Amino acid sequence: MRTIKALLVLALAIAAAAALAQKSAVESIEEYRAMLADGNPADLFEAKGEALWKQKRGPKNASLQACDLGKGAGIVKGAFVELPRYFADTQRVQDLESRLVTCMETLQGFNGKEIADTPFGRGEQNNVTALATYVAAESKGMKFNLPQSHSQEKVMYEVGKRLFFMRGGTHDFACASCHGEDGKRIRLQDLPNLTKSPGAGNGFGAWPAYRVSNGQMWGMQLRLNDCYRQQRFPYPGFGSDATIALGVYLGVNGQGGTSTAPAIKR
Ligand code: HEC
Repeated sequence: MRTIKALLVLALAIAAAAALAQKSAVESIEEYRAMLADGNPADLFEAKGEALWKQKRGPKNASLQACDLGKGAGIVKGAFVELPRYFADTQRVQDLESRLVTCMETLQGFNGKEIADTPFGRGEQNNVTALATYVAAESKGMKFNLPQSHSQEKVMYEVGKRLFFMRGGTHDFACASCHGEDGKRIRLQDLPNLTKSPGAGNGFGAWPAYRVSNGQMWGMQLRLNDCYRQQRFPYPGFGSDATIALGVYLGVNGQGGTSTAPAIKR
């Protein structure tokens, strides 16, 4: 009798300790994130991006200060929270990164296709990421308000939605398999529900973000690329309509959410 009681007490103690350990793991991660947020290396990319925006570069030796990000030539503040959107000059819905490449091509004379074909983290791609970080930072704290008035913007939302739920590949995954419900996680990584607010706003509105785990600054294009990898799908092209459509879907779902980009991630 005595031993049973002792065992019971021991079992309870173990269960309690396990519960405590669980809680402190979650708490520790919160603490870790708070510590990270203090002194985000994204600031360095932001500063680099701002310098690049103003610097005369490329075959045409021009700055990007006349670039129209959707709110008129040269207007940076507030542009990020309204992208992706339709642009009459290219007759395309564009996200921040693809639009920056358009401006680098038209204003500075760079070869846009060459930049799109450059691997992430190299050459001009690095500069696109820094520029995107700067532009996003100028809208930090503002609320997402993507336009949905142009027919192409509505089409892209629908395309994005279909892509989000499209299952396939070796694992029969869709974005929705990992991001379609509340309370999902992989190991200790919480997975936001990207089909609605606030998950979509939080998940979409944090990128570009600095990733501590690999010491890299990632824009949304790379974020989506890596999720396609996790989905065991082939990599989509940089600035492809598919990735932009997904951006429209996430951004519109995150309507009213606050932009925290450039954020810091594990
Ligand atoms: C196999 C699971 C899986 C699939 C499928 C998947 N993702 Fe992810 N996604 C993740 C994980 C894990 C993270 C967390 C990021 C990390 O690696 O730190 C993430 C992060 C994200 C984020 C950033 C969220 C945040 O809070 O910062 C976005 C946006 C995103 N995914 C979009 C997508 C889209 C769009 C698709 C479909 C093309 C997709 N994901 C498919 C696992 C997945």
